[in-house]
Amino acid sequence: MKIGTPKEVLEGENRVAMTPDSALQLQKLGYECVIESGAGAKAGFSDADYEAAGVEIIKTPAALWKAADIVAKVRVPTETELKRLRKDQTLITFFNPGGNEEGLELAKSKGATVIAMEMVPRISRAQKMDALSSMANIAGYRAVIEAANNFPRLMTGQVTAAGKVPPAKVLVVGAGVAGLAAIGTSTSLGAITYAFDVRPEVAEQIESMGAEFVFLDFEEELKDGSSTGGYAAPSSPEFQEKQLEKFRELAPDMDIVITTALIPNRPAPKLWTKDMVEAMKPGSVIVDLAAERGGNCELTKPDEKIVTDNGVTIVGYTDFPSRMATQSSTLYATNIRHMMTDLTPEKDGTPVHDMEDDVIRGATVTHKGEITWPPPPPKVQAIAAQKPKEKPKELTPEERKAQEIAAFKKQTKAQVTLLAIGGALVLAAGLYAPASFMQHFIVFVLAVFVGFQVIWGVSHSLHTPLMAVTNAISSIIILGALMQIGSGSFLVILLAAISVFMAGINIFGGFLVTRRMLAMFQKS
Ligand code: NAI
Repeated sequence: MKIGTPKEVLEGENRVAMTPDSALQLQKLGYECVIESGAGAKAGFSDADYEAAGVEIIKTPAALWKAADIVAKVRVPTETELKRLRKDQTLITFFNPGGNEEGLELAKSKGATVIAMEMVPRISRAQKMDALSSMANIAGYRAVIEAANNFPRLMTGQVTAAGKVPPAKVLVVGAGVAGLAAIGTSTSLGAITYAFDVRPEVAEQIESMGAEFVFLDFEEELKDGSSTGGYAAPSSPEFQEKQLEKFRELAPDMDIVITTALIPNRPAPKLWTKDMVEAMKPGSVIVDLAAERGGNCELTKPDEKIVTDNGVTIVGYTDFPSRMATQSSTLYATNIRHMMTDLTPEKDGTPVHDMEDDVIRGATVTHKGEITWPPPPPKVQAIAAQKPKEKPKELTPEERKAQEIAAFKKQTKAQVTLLAIGGALVLAAGLYAPASFMQHFIVFVLAVFVGFQVIWGVSHSLHTPLMAVTNAISSIIILGALMQIGSGSFLVILLAAISVFMAGINIFGGFLVTRRMLAMFQKS
């Protein structure tokens, strides 16, 4: 069968759904690859590159759609494109099924199967096909680069001969895929980064990336994303009010604000209001990634960059992935290739459309003359799913005391039993073994016991520094060498001197390494 990729028709779209690399992989799955002439040009892939990868070049879009059994593209198809579909042809693309009823009807009437890439469920197994995530990742990165480009100061703090430069302060609103990528980029550029999200489970992720979680003192039971496919659920009006209050407080202090807050299939929540923009310093930058859905900032103009009267730049571009077309095409084409791998279990160039498979079922929006959107919820839980933590029961002082006594008794019983068994064994050995053996054996047993006691209570992460310091202490053998160094024989003096030298390295090196290791565990 043939997989084909047409040139994107949307003005300004630079991405392409097949790259020479992905074509090579698709061929390994048993498919022949075809591409419309010039389809990869804006993403940096020439027709010659495709030809070298064994891809057939087709001159016109009509011929391409005709030749391909499976069409892979990026943007939501136009009416003209959909009219080219035919029975049993498969189309893999972003489709926006929630807002594209005519498209669904048209594809259904043609009897074609449409796989909508934005519908790939966010479950672990499907991560490699999750094109929304791979594109949002690029958008988050690019948002920071765009902000830095429009920001008239340095991102990182510096101390120079010409003066001290404070680092930029960046606030990322919404720590989903795009938000986390923005946080990573911002911290690596040296900015002080703050982030906020309504999902409590991301606080740890935010902090592990070096940003500070903006904490809201609010009594609402925040919902995690497990029930909503890894996405957030709408929050209450009181919570929203509290959130805006917090943002209002932060606004004068922030240099760059990157908003990525979104709840699927809803207009973007308005989180950065006009008065917050007005409270910002001149030169500040807002990058609104949710512009396509109306924007998180009240003043955002989709697809435009504006500068407000008080000198704040608001970037509302909706095509960030397309602005990094080589990278995003590479990732998107890989997502498609993984989707094809799932569709081709036998690697024989024949897709098997298994509607029992969570991922394939979830992403399929028309199949066999039916509209199959919306899909049933996936059987597997979303990645963000976490077991709700059970609150430990509060114990009364009496209960706690009784519990402690019971634990102590249990521990004592175990220790006494062990001691009795150990003693009996040593006694039994002493009856038969020679005295010299027993002396060494008891030292050995004691050494094992002491070693065990020393190490048992130490957490695993500290075992390596512990070994380093034990190594240093074991250099006590230096005493033996020191005692011998005064002996008359040249050979003994030489050997003792070498021993002192080596044991010295062990001691100083051991302590030095331990110090360094422990420093890694200390907060600066
Ligand atoms: P996501 O669903 O992974 O993340 C959205 C995050 O916003 C979630 O963590 C959610 O908990 C959070 N959120 C929802 N309501 C909130 C609120 N009221 N306050 C704070 N946080 C809230 O989505 P993803 O993939 O990270 O995409 C983020 C945005 O970026 C979307 O609007 C998407 O359409 C947009 N996007 C824009 C592109 C562009 O070129 N402009 C390209 C790719 C994505």
